Amino acid sequence: MPLRLVPLLLLLLCLCLAVPSRVQAGSPDTAGFMVRLTVPGLDYGRSVAVGILVQKLHGISIPDQSGSSGEIHYTLSGMHITDFTMPSTALGFVPGSGLKFSFSGASVSLSGDWHYKALFVKDSGSFDMRMSGLSLSAVLVLSRDAVGRPSVSAGGCSSEVGDVDIKFHGGASWLYNLFKHLIENNIRDHLKGQLCGQVTEAINSDLENSLQEIPITAKVDEFTEVDYSLLSPPDTRADMLDMPCKGEFYSLQHHSEFPVPAPPMDLGTSADRMLYFGLSEFLFNSAGYAYQASGALTYIITEAMLPKDAPFHLNTSSLAPIAVKLKDFPGLPVEVRVESSAAPTLSISAGNVTLHTQALATFSALWPNGTRSFLFSINASASLAARLEIDADKLHGTLALDSLVLTLVKSDVGDVHVNLLQSIIKFITKTIILPKVNERLSQGIPMPLLKKVKIVNAVLLNKEGFTVVGMDLRYSP
Ligand SMILES: *[C@@H]1O[C@H](CO)[C@@H](O)[C@H](O)[C@H]1NC(C)=O
Ligand SMILES: *[C@@H]1O[C@H](CO)[C@@H](O)[C@H](O)[C@H]1NC(C)=O
Ligand SMILES: *[C@@H]1O[C@H](CO)[C@@H](O)[C@H](O)[C@H]1NC(C)=O
Ligand SMILES: *[C@@H]1O[C@H](CO)[C@@H](O)[C@H](O)[C@H]1NC(C)=O
Repeated sequence: MPLRLVPLLLLLLCLCLAVPSRVQAGSPDTAGFMVRLTVPGLDYGRSVAVGILVQKLHGISIPDQSGSSGEIHYTLSGMHITDFTMPSTALGFVPGSGLKFSFSGASVSLSGDWHYKALFVKDSGSFDMRMSGLSLSAVLVLSRDAVGRPSVSAGGCSSEVGDVDIKFHGGASWLYNLFKHLIENNIRDHLKGQLCGQVTEAINSDLENSLQEIPITAKVDEFTEVDYSLLSPPDTRADMLDMPCKGEFYSLQHHSEFPVPAPPMDLGTSADRMLYFGLSEFLFNSAGYAYQASGALTYIITEAMLPKDAPFHLNTSSLAPIAVKLKDFPGLPVEVRVESSAAPTLSISAGNVTLHTQALATFSALWPNGTRSFLFSINASASLAARLEIDADKLHGTLALDSLVLTLVKSDVGDVHVNLLQSIIKFITKTIILPKVNERLSQGIPMPLLKKVKIVNAVLLNKEGFTVVGMDLRYSP
């Protein structure tokens, strides 16, 4: 039955909301990621889904039907929909429960061939049928399954069928047209019984199964994945639906929980845009933790990586002013290994987004025979101003160095001139490390949206401990 397509297309909408997930229960307060769908969002989803549905139903073929009544065997074949209209549709929130989809005044026209065979007679011809005044109202109850995926089930359905009008052509059509009313009433009763049954089944099986197939987590890159599982059932109110999600990054190699709980996140009454995402410091800090655990935050800096106009060279002669004893290693290339020594943390407040990092930089001289001599190591504590941006399908950021504090950890070359070193480390950070980090950041965090859905009119607002991203969506087939 083509009617199966109705809920299937609602799925499209639900997929916009449905996010990849993994096991874990908790309270909404501890969400690292929050999704809010608003009335304009629901309405846009409805118009897109209905548009697709109407388009798909045009010209669709209906499987042959055959049956028998006493000695008469009949077949309806070659049936296809010639016209389909759904002038009035609605999709709304049902507080505390889920969504309600309804349509009214819909009509379907179809054509096909009929054929029957009794004991000694057979006859055949074609027919045109028009069913109008179709209406239906179905509730979709949204919940959370045991592993934290969104789950849907049918929560009541009612339907009406207005008129059925059938015309037979060919064969002894004049005869059947006499019984037209009887046949029409039969079809109407049958259809009325079928409509809700089909829709309920489509919600409970097709739609629910599709939700079950949503991948459990989204892989971000070769180091991490992000878990978007629902922490509690979707919270539906009269004009919005909030889905508190875990929003935690994990290292692919060392899967361990980020130890600090997420701060409370309240999106307030934001409801102008179609969709809102709340991104907690927790989400970013679990990312820092996961990258740190993956060993992904290590950089080896060599002379070859310096820009041509660098004011110094990475060799012991050029760096000699930093430590007197460097002249014990004449004319040797120097390598700097910079590794994050503590997971970077992000703090979000109304004015600023700041990333705090701790790194250990180790300077070594390289002998021609390949031996490496340790020169000195320093702790670098850097604050970086982070700018978050959102484009068509992902959230990304850029970092700029704000402050840098160096402390000498160990030296094999006597006193180290930390102030001179400061400008060298700053230069390396700005010209080599940050561009690399920013390039990785520009790949962004994939947002849980369908491929054909693009983000427009994004607004980004920083609050205490979290960022709210509001957006409208554009579906392009
Ligand atoms: C070392 O640095 C000096 C500049 O201070 C430069 O003239 C020289 O070519 C460099 N040596 C090597 C081996 O890169
Ligand atoms: C923003 O960050 C700067 C430097 O870290 C700090 O001086 C300033 O107070 C911060 N502003 C707000 C509103 O937090
Ligand atoms: C490499 O050369 C340095 C300096 O000449 C020397 O001290 C070191 O022992 C050599 N290492 C090896 C493995 O030959
Ligand atoms: C260097 O940083 C590490 C980790 O942040 C810290 O444990 C250590 O005490 C620091 N050492 C110095 C000399 O500041």
